[in-house]
Amino acid sequence: MLSVIVLAAGKGTRMRSTLPKVLHRLAGKPLLGHVLDAAGALKPSAMHCVIGHGAEQVTKGIQRDALNWVMQTEQLGTGHAVQQAMPEVPDEHSVLVLYGDVPLIRTETIATLLDIAERGQVGLLSVEMPDPTGYGRILRNDENAVIGIVEQKDATPEQLNITEINTGILSAPAGLLKQLLSQIDCNNAQGEYYLTDIFALAHQAGVSIETCHPAHIWEVDGVNSRVQLAALERQAQRNQAEALMQAGVTLYDPERLDIRGEVSVGQDTCIDVNVVLEGKVQIGERCIIESGCVIKDSVIGNDVHLKPHCVLESASVGNNASAGPFARLRPGTVMANDSHVGNFVETKNTHLGEGSKANHLTYLGDAEIGRQVNVGAGTITCNYDGANKHKTVIEDGAFIGSDTQLVAPVKVGANVTVGAGTTVTQDVEANALVITRVKQRSIQNWQRPVKKQ
Ligand code: UD1
Ligand code: CA
Repeated sequence: MLSVIVLAAGKGTRMRSTLPKVLHRLAGKPLLGHVLDAAGALKPSAMHCVIGHGAEQVTKGIQRDALNWVMQTEQLGTGHAVQQAMPEVPDEHSVLVLYGDVPLIRTETIATLLDIAERGQVGLLSVEMPDPTGYGRILRNDENAVIGIVEQKDATPEQLNITEINTGILSAPAGLLKQLLSQIDCNNAQGEYYLTDIFALAHQAGVSIETCHPAHIWEVDGVNSRVQLAALERQAQRNQAEALMQAGVTLYDPERLDIRGEVSVGQDTCIDVNVVLEGKVQIGERCIIESGCVIKDSVIGNDVHLKPHCVLESASVGNNASAGPFARLRPGTVMANDSHVGNFVETKNTHLGEGSKANHLTYLGDAEIGRQVNVGAGTITCNYDGANKHKTVIEDGAFIGSDTQLVAPVKVGANVTVGAGTTVTQDVEANALVITRVKQRSIQNWQRPVKKQ
């Protein structure tokens, strides 16, 4: 049985932010959310998160089932922080200690660490750092056994040369951890209760300490500043881009795609530069997503072509459809299979039927458009009367001439032809021609006014 303890009570002064550090977003998700997801994949019996600074904001910003918030009112050190959660942890559990500001830790890595605790030993995640400045150093004896950890501020010049450092992440049997924590004090350079002191105590008690290492150093990179946050954001983006490429997606430049959410992309889809995918986005196979597209919470079928600079939000695009360049598909847009939307077209709460087209300069709001409809350039659904929204219905096969206004609520029947420049205010029966144009007049030999001298 596993109890996870995530430390997140620190202030994060160097972020210079009114937002608690662990709520800053990485790849669209709060830092703490990443840690909870990585640990959650191990199916722990309980997850405790130790909070202090900005506690109210943190609990509001992170909504998870079965997450137990533990208050640490005074930040007296990492050892003290873990102690706050221990009364709620049964002795026979294994404990995994993680950090709310170390977001890219992988489930595989902590699973290995957890195995150590399950064998009754203390597990320590350490790593070789070419520049170990600032970190706790791992002390080993002649037999290479870990005998303790010394913090940077307490280390001798000789100890400062050690390059194996403490990531802070550890595992231990709960009962043993409680005993060890009860023995730590704050007689050190920072006057804090160091969690790291449990290692010397464990060694003295004859408990063996086993180390393991993350496969990648970025797994244990913490976020203390916005500079570090940006660096880690790039790493997270690289990881996601690599996963997509491994799944058969072509990225013209993996460094110029940003994914801020949960995304799935089908095989042989090609994504050009400067595309942003946000929220829950599903893209099918063999699509072409051209540069500058921003897609949020949308579902895109197979063989779809999004030309440059399309903006989609809560939209659904059917197979073989195309949009853009410069199309804006707002919430509630459904483009059926083989439908087309061209440049400077805005749609909202609109269903565009199979094979239908709106290729230029058009606003379609609250509209139900059938199959094989042609919507001419400059068509506007006048869906708003200043107080309420109304619906426009256009049935199969209709031809809407350019520069038409459809004053909703209004219905245009099947195969209707709407003459260019028409303002449709009443329902039109199927197969009719409707036109509200003023009859054309020509005045011969028209004299233009001339400018006075
Ligand atoms: C800690 C380790 C150090 C390790 C380093 C890795 C100790 C004493 N030292 O040092 O060996 O190399 O992490 O980054 O553990 N926190 C609380 N409550 C507290 C204090 C801290 O919740 O009272 C949380 C912080 O929010 C933070 C984490 O614990 O997420 C680490 O605290 P921090 O003060 O950054 O520890 P370091 O000095 O970096
Ligand atoms: Ca730190």
